Amino acid sequence: MQIDRLTVLPQVDSTSNWVKQQPEPGVIACLAERQTAGRGRRGRSWSSPPGSGIVLSVRWPLHAASEALGLLSLQVGLAVREALAQVTALPVQLKWPNDLMLDGKKLGGILVELQSGGRSFAGQSVATTAIIGIGVNVNWPDDEPMPQPLADCRDADPPATRNALVAAMLTELNATLERFGTDPSCSIVSRWWQHDMLAGQQVVVQQNDREFTGRAAGIAGDGGFVLDTVDGIKTFYSSEVSIRVAA
Ligand code: BTN
Repeated sequence: MQIDRLTVLPQVDSTSNWVKQQPEPGVIACLAERQTAGRGRRGRSWSSPPGSGIVLSVRWPLHAASEALGLLSLQVGLAVREALAQVTALPVQLKWPNDLMLDGKKLGGILVELQSGGRSFAGQSVATTAIIGIGVNVNWPDDEPMPQPLADCRDADPPATRNALVAAMLTELNATLERFGTDPSCSIVSRWWQHDMLAGQQVVVQQNDREFTGRAAGIAGDGGFVLDTVDGIKTFYSSEVSIRVAA
């Protein structure tokens, strides 16, 4: 599949809302200079000073079995990481489940939402449509306060343009999503481990009001986060938890 329409907007509430609202079938992508109500994971907002980053959403009708859908956002993370590393040559890593990290700070994030139904451009019905939202800090202005310590792509050598980054992301995403239909797990466990910022580290997993400490042992074949604790292996799933490196 290829992207059927790419729209660049000066301003929108959220590129993910915008692609959801488009009536025609097929793969629709949207970039914006500014979002007025950008959304992050777990009900958080996503802020990006106008023109300083990439805010991109892709609506993709999926031909994949429902039990594979838990792997989708991780495969998207690997694709976006690959695109960033290719263009910037920076050592970009992943923090489970959906953070793009540089030098231990957040460089970007991914929000994948699923809708039932949808149609490919050729009119073929699908069971699920993925709304893939990607936010990356490219050149955070020096005079703009950061909501938390963040990384951007300013140290890329040669400097990375947003156009080059978006082109690489769309190419990698296209390849990943094409493959996802037939091979959703595609060596995910080993590829994740290679780029996992937490791999082998002592971490604290917070699940509601409980905390678990252990060694981060990568991901399971179904995409869960694996923690090696004194009481044995525990696996966590994304909506439930947050993870930090132990002090
Ligand atoms: C996160 O780290 O919490 C995920 C952030 C995802 C932000 C992107 S920016 C483009 C798209 N539009 C949105 O409203 N959110 C996603």
